[in-house]
Amino acid sequence: MKVVVIQGPNLNMLGHREQNIYGPMKLEDIHTQMKGFAEQNGVEVEFFQSNLEGEIVDRLQECMGEANGVIINPAAYTHTSIAIRDAIAAIQIPVVEVHLSNIYQREEFRHTSLIAPVCAGQISGFGPFSYHMAMVAILQIMSEMKARYEAEQAHQAQQSLQSK
Ligand code: DQA
Repeated sequence: MKVVVIQGPNLNMLGHREQNIYGPMKLEDIHTQMKGFAEQNGVEVEFFQSNLEGEIVDRLQECMGEANGVIINPAAYTHTSIAIRDAIAAIQIPVVEVHLSNIYQREEFRHTSLIAPVCAGQISGFGPFSYHMAMVAILQIMSEMKARYEAEQAHQAQQSLQSK
């Protein structure tokens, strides 16, 4: 099982950027914590950061057939990108949207997420802990999907035995 974590523009500057909003933690430290937790749960995790919308779309498309779940902080593209929204809708993999800050407490232009309607859910406002909660959420969704798939397989196997 594999989770891909996608980080949007300016998140490479965490720890330096607007510390009053985003705090002092660097992106690589957030990733180290996420990796530890994912591995404890037997799940592989890969990280990707880009400041470019098209690269984020490409990475989402590559997740098809590669990942079982995606965590994305689209950063400023949250509020503007139909292309990222369409890519998420296209890939048919569960996606959890995450934000460090509470986007609903901030400027009005941040109150709209174009991404949220095509995601399994959104976590916003808990600082770096938002990413931990997003990881808990995606692992739960993935294990429910796996259990459903296995139950279906068992049911089909039983039906084909009965038809013999
Ligand atoms: C953000 C919120 C966005 O509005 C902003 O553009 C970001 C970071 C967050 O994690 O709080 O770059 O996604």
